[in-house]
Amino acid sequence: MGYEIKTIGVLTSGGDAPGMNAAIRAVTRTAIYNGICVKAIYRGYKGLIADEIVDFQTENVSNIIQQGGTILKTARSQEFLTVEGRKIAFDNILKHQIDALIVIGGDGTFSGARVFAQEYNIPIIGLPGTIDNDLCGTDTTIGYDTALNTITNAVDKIRDTASSHERLFFIEVMGRDAGFLALNSATASGAEAAIIPERETKVDQLEELISNGFRKSKNSSIVIVTESEVTGGANGLAERMKIEHPEYDVRVTILGHIQRGGSPSAQDRIIASRMGAAAIEALKEGQRNIMIGMINDEIVYVPFTKAIKDNKSVDEEQIKVLQMLSI
Ligand code: F6P
Repeated sequence: MGYEIKTIGVLTSGGDAPGMNAAIRAVTRTAIYNGICVKAIYRGYKGLIADEIVDFQTENVSNIIQQGGTILKTARSQEFLTVEGRKIAFDNILKHQIDALIVIGGDGTFSGARVFAQEYNIPIIGLPGTIDNDLCGTDTTIGYDTALNTITNAVDKIRDTASSHERLFFIEVMGRDAGFLALNSATASGAEAAIIPERETKVDQLEELISNGFRKSKNSSIVIVTESEVTGGANGLAERMKIEHPEYDVRVTILGHIQRGGSPSAQDRIIASRMGAAAIEALKEGQRNIMIGMINDEIVYVPFTKAIKDNKSVDEEQIKVLQMLSI
């Protein structure tokens, strides 16, 4: 490869996700196992610019595998979007003699990584850390499984009160512009429907729900809704219902940031550990500017350009299953 990696820098960026700590641990320990030094960069690209960079040893990542959030902190850096900001970031990379970067985050993190790698020819490996599961080229992302379970547990609780009062609940979940959390939590919690961004332009999902004979055999209902500026999310749909179908007793719950917290599931700890180790292996092989993904339980390398393409589609078969099971 003509480029010996002696020191790596690792950072987390964008929205935190459960399992990021397991990934930091895996990256750190696999690097040290391979004789590579580790520099921890705090607060994502912001910390890279502000020179918040320290040496990490194996003990720095002890007792973190079970913790939610990220011990490295995280941020969304506006300055890194600028040429000047990236120049300062690169000066710090030179100062700390960092030969390659491992960045853990979502599409914003990888968009930044892609530009930075092009400008300064530095090897960067990405690990998909986001509850949204909206990255292409991987079946799942670190944090998604935990968030899905958190949502499902919350919906189970809401169902008790929905049923007692015979109400219709719109429960808003995160996902940015992706309906994976909504669709899968709706399936897992036995909800009536999921209103997701991927179908926004195709159909009036609320009207479809009502005209499909929604609630025929039940008194209470749960509808999971992805946050969305187009539909207005759960509040927007509830307002519409008040006007268009005032016969329903509607309530709204916005689950919010509870979805991002908590101890990671075993599944998230496992994929974070495997992907973290794979990131170091990939660097040793001379890979650069790729995201580590997982397809059919196997590690794959996904170019940043592909990972951040806006086309990871939801499964039509799953939409159908949800519809069939809600009769
Ligand atoms: O990308 C993760 C995510 O939780 C999205 O689902 C959500 O739209 C966004 O981050 C919220 O970001 P913030 O915590 O900055 O409000």
